[in-house]
Amino acid sequence: MYTEKVMDHFEHPRNVGEIENPSGMGTVGNVKCGDIMRIYLDIDDNQVIRDVKFKTFGCGAAVATSSMATELVKGKTVQEAMAVTNQAVMEALDGLPPVKVHCSLLAEEAIHAALWDYAQKNGIQIEGLSQPKSDISEHDEDEEY
Ligand code: FES
Repeated sequence: MYTEKVMDHFEHPRNVGEIENPSGMGTVGNVKCGDIMRIYLDIDDNQVIRDVKFKTFGCGAAVATSSMATELVKGKTVQEAMAVTNQAVMEALDGLPPVKVHCSLLAEEAIHAALWDYAQKNGIQIEGLSQPKSDISEHDEDEEY
């Protein structure tokens, strides 16, 4: 039911790990399945993402989509990274089964949350980026689920 690319990224996920003192970090979760994803970004002075790492406590599709999403944003500017939507990630993986589409949304949201964190810290605006609703890293206390 999974494509070869999904299996490849699931079995050999790229960019797993953490970045110390990241330029931006975002943690998001899906209430229904309970899966959690965290993305770390290292962004240089020209707003280019020079490194990215992720940690995912979740299903195989979540691991594969995080892995592919990190590959897609690496080397891009923060603005270009906005084009890495869940749709783009799914296409790059040659598709996901319909019940697993929400897993790819987690990857998009985690990247947006990390970009938001970076933008906040540096007082910049990234076009099309709004405050992530599900960034659970800073809202542990007032969860509204
Ligand atoms: Fe929750 Fe995949 S089942 S992210």
